[in-house]
Amino acid sequence: MSFIQLENITKVFAGGEKPAVDHLQLNINKGEIITLLGPSGCGKTTTLRMIAGFENPTNGTIQIGDNEVFSDAHSLPPEKRGIGMVFQDYALFPHMTIIKNVMFGLNKWGAREKRKRAKEVLELVGLEDYGSRYPTQLSGGQQQRVALARALAPKPNVVLMDEPFSNLDAGLREKMRFDVTNILRKTNTTAIIVTHDQKDAFAVSDRVVVMKDGLIQQIAAPKEMYRCPKNCFVAQFVGKTNLLTGTMDTDLRNIHTHIGKVTLPNEWQERLDTVKLSIRPEGCSLSDEGAYCGQVERVTYSGEYQELHVRLHNEPELSEEPMLIYAPVEKDVEIGTIVSFDIKPELVALVE
Ligand SMILES: Nc1ncnc2c1ncn2[C@@H]1O[C@H](COP(=O)(O)OP(=O)(O)O)[C@@H](O)[C@H]1O
Ligand SMILES: [Mg+2]
Repeated sequence: MSFIQLENITKVFAGGEKPAVDHLQLNINKGEIITLLGPSGCGKTTTLRMIAGFENPTNGTIQIGDNEVFSDAHSLPPEKRGIGMVFQDYALFPHMTIIKNVMFGLNKWGAREKRKRAKEVLELVGLEDYGSRYPTQLSGGQQQRVALARALAPKPNVVLMDEPFSNLDAGLREKMRFDVTNILRKTNTTAIIVTHDQKDAFAVSDRVVVMKDGLIQQIAAPKEMYRCPKNCFVAQFVGKTNLLTGTMDTDLRNIHTHIGKVTLPNEWQERLDTVKLSIRPEGCSLSDEGAYCGQVERVTYSGEYQELHVRLHNEPELSEEPMLIYAPVEKDVEIGTIVSFDIKPELVALVE
């Protein structure tokens, strides 16, 4: 049985027309790191708050470890759910030293155990020498680690983090993604992280849950999510893509589109007529004798690669979107250049 079970969780706020969270179904294993990913307003924070016990679902049940923490019959208060919370702004107490901040969640522990445990978790996050400082004397990344240490101190069943990286600048953000996952892994902590940033989600999670309008769109490991997005929304939300319509060949593998024949990585399980394809820009590689050919309309240089917008020659109508293709930076490409390219089936997916 899964360690955490969210069964059919629905939340309708008073005055809200549509549910903020709609029949959410999710099982999480012990030690797993899960991310809720989606645009602003899709119900991520509400889901997290219901797990924490700050908000009661309208319907559904929540199981954490051995405890049913919410059902029609009862709702356990947050402090009895065994959760550790890390807030977006870290919510450290400015007038307390770091060690006092960490000890705050341990009020039921004896004085000596409290201090011992606080030192232990500060060491775990690499801040054992900072116990007597105040939060304002620490950098953003260090404050983040204190918040995590405080959440981990009472040995919670699960750590919940709402947008933990959004207050950090790009360089530090990458380091913190690594540090936070490292600490969670080392302690075999189960964690649910909320973010609207696909890069955060992919870098830290075992599985990603993409949400939209309160509904789960797809649950998958990052690689699978990127290569096999289930629908157009997921395909566009996790990275850039080309969406094309086509008709399926009787071989169940080739799709006839306005740019020509595009091949799926595997035979589809059933014959469909009209289908939608997602083709990742990295799946299109320039090649002297490629199967597809077109004129470059736009070049955007990113440093790591060049984004080309290529207008295909055999497009029946100019209203079709140009193809987005990534070209290596060392390649000289200019607007107006005719290029040819191939498409790797591994980065083609059939989407709903
Ligand atoms: N306390 C509340 N009262 C009424 N509506 C709310 C409340 N909290 C959130 N909502 C609404 O629920 C939806 C989901 O919000 P939220 O869970 O905060 O989204 P996210 O964290 O994904 O940005 C939004 O439409 C939001 O306006
Ligand atoms: Mg939110």
